[in-house]
Amino acid sequence: MRLYPKTFIDELKARSNIVDVMSRYVRGISKRGKSHFACCPFHHEKTPSFVINEYEQYYHCFGCGRSGDVIKFIEEIENIEYFEAVALLAKYANLTLPELDEDSGKLAEQKKKKDKLYEALRLTAKFYHECLNVRGGAAIEYLHRRSISDTLTVRFGLGYSPDYDSLPLHLKRSGSFSDTELIESGAVTPSRDGRLIDAMSGRLVFPIINSYNDVTGFSGRLLEKKEGAAKYKNTGATLIFDKSKSLYGINLLKKEKQQNGINDVILVEGHVDLVSLNGADIKNSVATMGTALTKFQAALIKRYSEKVYIAYDGDKAGQAAALRGLDILADEGLDVKVIELPEGLDPDDTVKKLGREGFLELKNKALPLYEYKIYTLKKGYDMSSNSERGKFAVKAVDTLKPLGNDILTESYLGLVSDISGINYDTLKNELQKNKDTKPSAAHNNLAENTSGKTVKKRENAYLAAVRFILNALLFKKSYAEYSADIAPHLIDQTHIGIFAYISDCKECGIEPRAGAVYDEVDDSAELEAVMNVTTAFVNEADGKKYYEDSFKVIKKEKTSAELKKLREQFASETDVEKRNLITGRIKELLITKNKQ
Ligand code: UTP
Ligand code: MN
Repeated sequence: MRLYPKTFIDELKARSNIVDVMSRYVRGISKRGKSHFACCPFHHEKTPSFVINEYEQYYHCFGCGRSGDVIKFIEEIENIEYFEAVALLAKYANLTLPELDEDSGKLAEQKKKKDKLYEALRLTAKFYHECLNVRGGAAIEYLHRRSISDTLTVRFGLGYSPDYDSLPLHLKRSGSFSDTELIESGAVTPSRDGRLIDAMSGRLVFPIINSYNDVTGFSGRLLEKKEGAAKYKNTGATLIFDKSKSLYGINLLKKEKQQNGINDVILVEGHVDLVSLNGADIKNSVATMGTALTKFQAALIKRYSEKVYIAYDGDKAGQAAALRGLDILADEGLDVKVIELPEGLDPDDTVKKLGREGFLELKNKALPLYEYKIYTLKKGYDMSSNSERGKFAVKAVDTLKPLGNDILTESYLGLVSDISGINYDTLKNELQKNKDTKPSAAHNNLAENTSGKTVKKRENAYLAAVRFILNALLFKKSYAEYSADIAPHLIDQTHIGIFAYISDCKECGIEPRAGAVYDEVDDSAELEAVMNVTTAFVNEADGKKYYEDSFKVIKKEKTSAELKKLREQFASETDVEKRNLITGRIKELLITKNKQ
């Protein structure tokens, strides 16, 4: 997807030295030899495995495998789209964004519309915040009662909506918004008699801010219980707000990560929980706003840390539904632990009661998700009864099903065996029985591997070979001999695109640069796979051999594919003469194949 003219992107990249741009985000970049090194900003590590190649204008982390050019870096670290990453880099480089390519006119239109909504919400948040100070007596009193300090109020930009009419009036006065735009922003809603009214009227307001520091929506809390009204009211879905994709406080989490670094993320459910943790100087936290976690949110959290601690309400955490929701985190590959809070207390209550140290102590004692599930399950059974223990064991084994058959499962089975007193092998059989009937979605890929083993293996050899060749050519390895004969053996669009770029460079007599590939080929998992081949550890002599072998592999694969096609043709062909022709071709190919 190219949204901007190539000349502009070239200039932008020329003016956005990857090392300089990264220095804005990554601390402790140091130069060793030709490369720069740092601790990876995308996963937690103590020894640097994040390499920045200034000449290539390309980064690669040997720890987590992330890699890319300067634009990709901004997309990842800011958690924004390509479109926005380019805009941000242009801002850094003091360049004006050009008109967009024609085919992206629609996108440009949408971006303009979004900007308008962002502006309306920014003004709204500012208005609420000012109202809190000027007209928010009751709200301030409420905040103080809940021990939310003025510092916290400012940090979270908390506000107060005084009534139905002030906000719409204010927005009309301070910007050029149409009624439709105001409604589309979600800040106001049309009333039955056709007026525009403040959607949060009378509530204490928590602005929801994304990782790019834009206000995207609001949550408003009633100051006191009101019959028939929800305690919290959230902005409805808009062009820029989707509750299921948002995390409250992600802007502050990002700031914390950039300024001080974080080891893990603590996940809470409520707005006030998050504010309170922040007040106790526990800033590596973020909130889900009360709904079940989504895959999108899990992926978002993973951008900040691979380790996540769940701190849900003391009573809620034990609820089966809440625990099932957490599988989404495990499925994303996160290391999940559950903090057990005192019965009936939420993180806000807990930190107020036990203080920062008390909360952190509970965090230290957190159990891995599945261990926690087993212990929680146990609470529901009377372990002194034989039959109850049996029932517990069956349920517990069922709980372990999504885990796959690995060492971890074995250790959990051991735990279930210890608790229930039921023989380990019996439990293992039970698990197996379970699995055969209901394979878990999370581990489907394993099932696929066993069923289509041979096919997969050959495909993998071909894939590995193509990736190795393209990577070696792109990174100008001494042993990577360019040959136009590679092209006919490529099938995948990404491979074809990468090779086309390399060929173009060859024709123009210039050297390819890894960082430039991202302009030529759509970003995809396959591009990532090619870029992440670790040729770094391959020495000269081995490299030459790998390269030649890989070339043989891809040629062979191509021959096999042709043979297969010819055999199919042969099978469906009725004309004798044509059949003879096909047989002749098959013979030729078989001879070629034997030589390969
Ligand atoms: P809780 O009911 O646990 O409230 O909802 P809380 O966080 O302890 O709230 P306080 O301390 O009484 O202020 C947890 C979260 O669920 C969402 C909110 O995000 C809330 O923080 N929620 C709750 C709603 O969206 N709507 C509601 O009516 C209630
Ligand atoms: Mn609470």
